Amino acid sequence: MPGKRPCCTFVQTINDQAKSGLTAAKPVRLSRSWLSSLILLCMNNYDFVLSLRAIRGYGEQPISSEHMAAILEAARWTGSSKNKQNWAFVVVTEREQLERVAACGRFTDPVRNSAATIVIVEEPGGNEFDSGRVAQNIMLAAKAVGVASCPITLHHRERAGAVVDLGEGRTCHYAVALGYPLPGAEPAVLGGRKPLAELVHWQSYGSNR
Ligand SMILES: Cc1cc2nc3c(=O)[nH]c(=O)nc-3n(C[C@H](O)[C@H](O)[C@H](O)COP(=O)(O)O)c2cc1C
Repeated sequence: MPGKRPCCTFVQTINDQAKSGLTAAKPVRLSRSWLSSLILLCMNNYDFVLSLRAIRGYGEQPISSEHMAAILEAARWTGSSKNKQNWAFVVVTEREQLERVAACGRFTDPVRNSAATIVIVEEPGGNEFDSGRVAQNIMLAAKAVGVASCPITLHHRERAGAVVDLGEGRTCHYAVALGYPLPGAEPAVLGGRKPLAELVHWQSYGSNR
């Protein structure tokens, strides 16, 4: 992960110095959560954006109200088309309701295992581009407060709408599963990205065909 190495090196250096008697400090022993926080502190904003991954292994600990408030505030501040903010957020934390939401998609184990899942609701006039931006803001804010996340597709949209009781005119298609990461939780092996040379076309698509 970008940004990981400098922190590890920093801790390693302190420990090496402590062991060799160069400093009076005791060797630093960091728990995983402290290490994650330290890594985040060392990361610049660019590395932070690049390091966002879908994480699917969560502990059972509920998300603190402070962290949830921070995540929802970031969702609220997402930009939207004409600033219409035609969205709503259904926060699901009860186990049985999480199961019902999970039944609305095909790859929804993260919802089942989550401490909370936020269903992104499109109010009338809303659109999926805005929902996508909200999801990304939720994920970035979650990471900033130490919460792991995974975007979720609710393939059975109508059923999902009924489960979270949307009533007429509102729809939902996506959700974000959230939870404190299990120790060692990693992104799926299938990660990685296409090279820019395959993706970028300057001025027109045909320019580098
Ligand atoms: C629109 C969208 C829908 C997704 N739906 C699911 C899903 O239903 N279940 C799931 O486990 N992951 C889902 N993902 C997560 C992707 O699988 C993940 O972002 C992709 O594999 C890249 O993973 P990485 O960022 O960890 O490298 C979804 C991602 C996006 C952008």
